[in-house]
Amino acid sequence: MVCTDTFIYSIHFRFHHYGYVPNSQDTKEPPPRVALHAGESSAGSSVQASVVSETGGSFFKNSWTFSAGRSRLAWGKMAENEALTQHRKVLTLDTMNANVKKVEYAVRGPIVQRAVQLEKELREGVKKPFDEVIKANIGDAHAMGQQPITFFRQVLALCSYPDLLDDNKFPDDAKDRARRILKACGGSSIGSYSASQGIDCIRHDVARYIERRDGGISCDPDNIYLTTGASDGIVTILKLLTAGEGRTRTGVMISIPQYPLYSAALAELGAVQINYYLNEEKCWSLDITELQRSLQAAREHCNPRVLCIINPGNPTGQVQSRECIEDVIRFAAKEHLFLMADEVYQDNVYAEGCAFHSFKKVLFELGPEFSNIVELASFHSTSKCYMGECGLRGGYMEVINMDPEVKAQLTKLVSVRLCPPVPGQALMALVTNPPQPEEPSHAQFIKERTATLNDLAQKAKLTEDILNTVPGIRCNPVQGAMYSFPRITLPERAVKEAKENGQEPDMFYCMKLLEETGICLVPGSGFGQKDGTYHFRMTILPPADKLKILLHKVKEFHQRFIQQYS
Ligand SMILES: Cc1ncc(COP(=O)(O)O)c(C=O)c1O
Repeated sequence: MVCTDTFIYSIHFRFHHYGYVPNSQDTKEPPPRVALHAGESSAGSSVQASVVSETGGSFFKNSWTFSAGRSRLAWGKMAENEALTQHRKVLTLDTMNANVKKVEYAVRGPIVQRAVQLEKELREGVKKPFDEVIKANIGDAHAMGQQPITFFRQVLALCSYPDLLDDNKFPDDAKDRARRILKACGGSSIGSYSASQGIDCIRHDVARYIERRDGGISCDPDNIYLTTGASDGIVTILKLLTAGEGRTRTGVMISIPQYPLYSAALAELGAVQINYYLNEEKCWSLDITELQRSLQAAREHCNPRVLCIINPGNPTGQVQSRECIEDVIRFAAKEHLFLMADEVYQDNVYAEGCAFHSFKKVLFELGPEFSNIVELASFHSTSKCYMGECGLRGGYMEVINMDPEVKAQLTKLVSVRLCPPVPGQALMALVTNPPQPEEPSHAQFIKERTATLNDLAQKAKLTEDILNTVPGIRCNPVQGAMYSFPRITLPERAVKEAKENGQEPDMFYCMKLLEETGICLVPGSGFGQKDGTYHFRMTILPPADKLKILLHKVKEFHQRFIQQYS
């Protein structure tokens, strides 16, 4: 018994006659809970006991006596303390994992919470200066109206409900794929667990896809791990890499601006975040001199062991040149760094003269001097590209040159979580092994994929063009991925007012934009940016007509904002 009063009381109870009749013969019934209510009166001290059985057993009691260790027991206080004891939470802000409290994820931060609230208010008929909230805060393509690829959904429908295999509405190639996937599932059901590393034949599909993508460079299915989206793979590899204490703690180099999964995962794992800045003046390119600077500075206080690259970039939308990737690989080899290549946007390349080069391909083309030693994990996902199937949580990672003993640890680690979602794995099988030219679904598949990617390319250009007509907004070309990250010049007075409100200036700007126009963007501060610069991130995902409305509203708002604060 715990007392929060200044005295610690000892109380001794004696049951004169106490019995309990369980509700069944089940001797495993949990023990009853006993609640004590203590009181003090001129007649003496008393205790009432109430006894509660979880499963409905009944109690009887005849009489109770007790003696107290102190004569002047504050029984009222005791009762209060008892109640407090019963309700004291094990898990509080003070006792929880401190690393979790450091985690931030701007993409679903306060602006988005306010946007959801505004949508509710609009539904309830509250008058606003806008009729709808347009969300361009998150790279969730289907939520913004992008249509799924028919073939993928046909196969997934067949896998989910195999009776449809008898339905002649479904093309034969979709049925063949579904049969193949189901055959590889326990009990021929996608509802069964799979191998933790992922279904064997799907890992083979992924390996063949990588070989085709990389011009024939071989890929061992044993190096493929299917994951719950790319996020899961990224966090898993970071977990393996995080070790040491103080100055020996693992440091992880991430680009600034960055996708906040990285900073969040590092905070949670207690790894050291090492920032390297992308060069905004050169279309968010990556300078080796900047990598060198940030590495040297970090070596003063931690043990830098990992270099993360996102290509094509989120939130900055750049596509790295082949030369840049070569330089990064040479740098990683020289500085003894583990490379993590986040390539979830590998099909999202729009700008003329830009092409996607995988780190794996460039690594092997640099020759055995590099390909035999550089440790690389690369990541892909079903959430992006032309698929946009974020909710199905499909992904894979390929590990190269990983120490076999560590690889065994990795396999053990992923097995703890049993397996990635099997529907997501099935989808990855289709992404990496889509309909072939001789198959009935090929033409429609190509038509849909091309339409989606062309639409995204047009919206990327539209976004850049319209934003660059606004004085005070400067937008780099959206070469790839799904975002623009324009720089906004904010008047001194706005910066001052924001700071007086305890807000980052671009948060202040985005919040006002939301309240006045219903447009939901994410402030640049959520991704990191050079001190004294301000940005916002917007996706290019809304349908073209909505995107135009959104961009024009941003334009009008920005002009009003500048006038108001100049
Ligand atoms: C660069 C990057 N990496 C990883 C992810 C995570 O994607 P998922 O876990 O849905 O595959 C995202 C999502 O937006 C991303 O932009």
